[in-house]
Amino acid sequence: MTNKFVSFLILIGFVMGLGITPAWSGEDEAIANELTTLLKSSRAVLVQNKPLIKNPQKAGIDVNKFLAITYSNYEKATGKKFKKGSGNVGKAQDQLIEAIKQVVGEVVSGKDTALDPQGRFLPAIFARKAAAKFGQVSGGHMTLKLTTRDEYLVNASNKADAWEKGVINGKFLKQGWKKGKSFSQVTKHNGKKAFRLISPEYYKKGCMGCHGGKNGAKIHASKMPGLEGQLGGAISVSIYK
Ligand code: HEC
Repeated sequence: MTNKFVSFLILIGFVMGLGITPAWSGEDEAIANELTTLLKSSRAVLVQNKPLIKNPQKAGIDVNKFLAITYSNYEKATGKKFKKGSGNVGKAQDQLIEAIKQVVGEVVSGKDTALDPQGRFLPAIFARKAAAKFGQVSGGHMTLKLTTRDEYLVNASNKADAWEKGVINGKFLKQGWKKGKSFSQVTKHNGKKAFRLISPEYYKKGCMGCHGGKNGAKIHASKMPGLEGQLGGAISVSIYK
């Protein structure tokens, strides 16, 4: 191929890309991916520190320590040091960090005791609280949500909406969907134009004590136990336009 032809192909690709994708979606995709990685990195702090789950007030992990471990998890997950982005990406990161600070602060100080019936600060409870707080901190401009397929739903307030369900059933659960690949689209959400991105998560060994076997059947509304390796959840981000 001549250089001219290659340049021509690049130009066509560029023009077509612009035609299909609105100019702002690149930044939105970066924001959604950052929020997803930060939420996962912070939720992992609980998985790694069992005393924080069992007795959050006495685990000896304050907000600063929680964030320090979050950043180290972020570094492990991405291969790069956590560094605040610029513009809207940095703003969204700040807002999620602020939400995490508030949620962790309230739980470890004993101000918020709305945990599971045994008083445990489960990773999914942290994710639900952090996501709800993030919606408030962002002034309703963005939403973050931990959800799952209907069979494995525990808490009704995490139920997938029509768009999330469509992606979970129509893409993530279809044969041939690359494991771990996320899906994004510009669509309507709550009557407003929004960029939405959803990433799949799978049950690992450590999940099965609660989501597998008899215990899974007990907590899942469907009474179905989960199986290791199966799609067990999804993180969903919306950015309103
Ligand atoms: C100690 C028990 C326990 C373990 C371990 C556990 N979960 Fe859960 N999970 C729960 C409970 C209880 C909820 C409901 C939390 C709430 O009130 O929002 C939940 C909620 C969830 C949700 C949110 C959707 C829903 O059903 O409400 C997802 C997704 C999820 N779990 C996935 C996982 C994955 C993946 C793992 C392993 C990495 C895991 N869980 C480990 C008990 C557990």
